[in-house]
Amino acid sequence: MTGLISKKISSLKGTAKVPGDKSISHRSLMFGALAEGITHVSGLLEGEDVLCTAAALTAMGAHIETPAATGVWRIHGLGARPLTSPRAMVYLGNSGTSARLLMGLAGGYPLQATFTGDDSLSKRPMARVIKPLTQMGVGFETAPGDRLPLKIIGAEKLSPIDYTLPVASAQVKSAILLAGLHAKGKTIVTEPSPTRDHTERMLRFLGADIISARGPNGSKIITLTGFPTLKARDFTVPSDPSSAAFLTVAALITKDSDILIPNVSINPLRAGLCDTLKEMGGDITFENMREASGEPVADIRARSSALKGVTVPPERVPSMIDEFPVLSVAASFATGDTHMSDLSELRVKESDRLSAIAKGLAQAGVKADMGDDTLTVHGLGGAPDGGCKVMANLDHRIAMSFLVMGLAAKNPIAIDDAETIGTSFPGFADLMNSLGAEIGAN
Ligand code: S3P
Repeated sequence: MTGLISKKISSLKGTAKVPGDKSISHRSLMFGALAEGITHVSGLLEGEDVLCTAAALTAMGAHIETPAATGVWRIHGLGARPLTSPRAMVYLGNSGTSARLLMGLAGGYPLQATFTGDDSLSKRPMARVIKPLTQMGVGFETAPGDRLPLKIIGAEKLSPIDYTLPVASAQVKSAILLAGLHAKGKTIVTEPSPTRDHTERMLRFLGADIISARGPNGSKIITLTGFPTLKARDFTVPSDPSSAAFLTVAALITKDSDILIPNVSINPLRAGLCDTLKEMGGDITFENMREASGEPVADIRARSSALKGVTVPPERVPSMIDEFPVLSVAASFATGDTHMSDLSELRVKESDRLSAIAKGLAQAGVKADMGDDTLTVHGLGGAPDGGCKVMANLDHRIAMSFLVMGLAAKNPIAIDDAETIGTSFPGFADLMNSLGAEIGAN
């Protein structure tokens, strides 16, 4: 295990481009593999999670060319040809998105594939995907508790379903829609509150008939017609707002900071953290707003700010589901309390994030009250003590969040294991240091 430690700095200044969006990167590879023709993907996140998706697709017969120098990935789409059974077990590392989306994708072909993962992924619930996919005709054999390792027994033709998601999850929604590509007729997914819509946007971009409509009580209804012809089109992946979040919060909580993060997705279903930080008094602006491959993007400018506590509206939670660890860091520096609710999904992320945040905050000298699905951070109106070593629990976002806190805490903050940072944000420490951070080996 390689640890890292971050120390108090005077300021962060300059421009830093964060890696490509993880959700869009996974989907570019998957949809490129399905489409008819050749897809070029630029800006792909070359993090471990996405590389697991590329390796899994290759093991199932897709032809993906890794770039040599150009940085542009080339995918030879299967078109009408099927994915096939991999020769060996498919290892998906830490990546829930790979596992869940590929279950839906592979389930629509006459193949058998066994997925495995690391200790974190092997603990994550898969019943939420298995249940609807079983209704569509996919077979599964799993480890106890519907966990990985699991074997998928695909079928050539699936049945469409009309399914209401019990939890707001873009991964479950996407798994059903991907299986729905191989179901004759209309697959309908209702989500209680809207989650990231990259699957819908990107499938539509490739020619699928997919309609989103508002349902009752803030819900959303997505209808996909099966067996579309997907025509290859090139993707330009914008920078990941969930990675930009660490730089943004770091700039807000450190003194005399002023940074620019170019070309970040500001998809409204991903922008909840920026909305919340702005309400807290964060000096954040979106500059040069434009569109790239159907995604709204902007350059994000963030400057040092005096923050105040807020209540995060529960309906905003899905649009910032990965950002609660770093929001909790910002809330620690704020004046007053920050209340967060409807957080039950945080319990089943790469770690039990709610517990990991509460524990790390306590170690750093920040008071917080955790409930089953709530968290209140009692902001200090200044810097926490720090001077602790936080367990990352195989969770990249916990690791990066507490390293960000260390940049403005009174004493350094260490994390025990930085290896999983490479799943979503390779080069995190070097990029932060290029702006003036002091993050180094411990
Ligand atoms: C993702 C959806 C979210 C998110 C994850 C990526 C996706 O997970 O936390 O990092 O790409 O669809 P859930 O669907 O479990 O909320």
